[in-house]
Amino acid sequence: MPELTPRLEIRDLCRSFAGVEVVRNVSLSVMPGQVTCLLGPSGCGKSTTLRMIAGVETQDRGSILMDGKVLADDRQFTPPEARRIGLMFQDFALFPHLSVAENVAFGLDGPKAQQRARVEELLARVEMSRHIDNYPHHLSGGEQQRVALARALAPRPRVMLMDEPFSGLDNRLRDEIRDQTLDVLKDEGTAVLLVTHEPDEAMRMADEIALMRGGEILQQGAPYNIYNAPRDKFAVAFFSDINVIRGRVQGALTETPFGQFLAPGVPDGAEVEIVIRPQHIGIDFDREGRGPLPTPQQGTPARGVVQRARFMGNESLVEFRMDHDGSILRATVPNVFLPRPGKPLWLSIRRDRCFVFPVG
Ligand SMILES: Nc1ncnc2c1ncn2[C@@H]1O[C@H](COP(=O)(O)OP(=O)(O)O)[C@@H](O)[C@H]1O
Ligand SMILES: [Mg+2]
Repeated sequence: MPELTPRLEIRDLCRSFAGVEVVRNVSLSVMPGQVTCLLGPSGCGKSTTLRMIAGVETQDRGSILMDGKVLADDRQFTPPEARRIGLMFQDFALFPHLSVAENVAFGLDGPKAQQRARVEELLARVEMSRHIDNYPHHLSGGEQQRVALARALAPRPRVMLMDEPFSGLDNRLRDEIRDQTLDVLKDEGTAVLLVTHEPDEAMRMADEIALMRGGEILQQGAPYNIYNAPRDKFAVAFFSDINVIRGRVQGALTETPFGQFLAPGVPDGAEVEIVIRPQHIGIDFDREGRGPLPTPQQGTPARGVVQRARFMGNESLVEFRMDHDGSILRATVPNVFLPRPGKPLWLSIRRDRCFVFPVG
């Protein structure tokens, strides 16, 4: 099998502003037809990374390659307009004085008939054909977004860089536009690097997620892997609420009110955090406070008292104060489960759903 060359590859990109390193040794690659999401909290360096790839910002160190050829490194710098990169940002701004057709044709050259064919093809693909002669101010936000996508894709960019492109849209519209955008991008076979701070968006769009924190990539992989094999507490917490139970390790085990947990490779005496998502806390419905029936899977149940229960639509959120230390644990249950405050219930933690991390 020949090695596949990534469409876009960045190696060890670094960038400081006023002595503060905001992007540190960021490396990743995107294959043709693949969507990679740079996901992370506001200020973690996502946009700066994207701007260096676009060439509107220069890196202090590192290199950027397209199809194996250097676009930028210590010695070379390809100007933005020569990079064959398409851009889509939140404030995408179509040209107001140009029609939809003229907007989409803006970056095209070659024979007029050929340009027209490309414009019609793309507008059909984003379902905007009937607006071909309209002007941007006649279009809704979602429609403008679709035209912006067509405009960015018209010159057949090798790579599309998208920076929070959907955050200006309202919720219901956003899901629809995301799905449609993804279909169009997949059809075009472009490599896509999408920046977002929303885990839902990354899960929905990405083939691969690069989770960023403080200028660095913390973890990279398929959404399923990042969600189910997170590297640390931050990586768990980025995707959902979490509960944390602390314990000390003795003989690669930690003893808790929920029974023993494995802590392989953690030295005796070290502290660990057991991190568990609210949907993975087991509630002993049947026995209604009559005490535990321990199983190896569930460990030992511990008793807590309901503090409050809220119906959230798809699920109910129940807050417990635990008998053993007064700590609060939050559990979610599908559909409606609204026990009254004061009710004692037994909670358990599934061993295959929790994560054990050393502290510090
Ligand atoms: N041109 C700039 N001058 C100074 N600081 C900047 C500049 N651009 C970005 N920063 C800083 O770099 C950090 C990362 O910014 P950015 O890449 O925009 O983060 P993100 O897109 O993840 O929210 C922030 O602290 C931001 O204030
Ligand atoms: Mg940003």
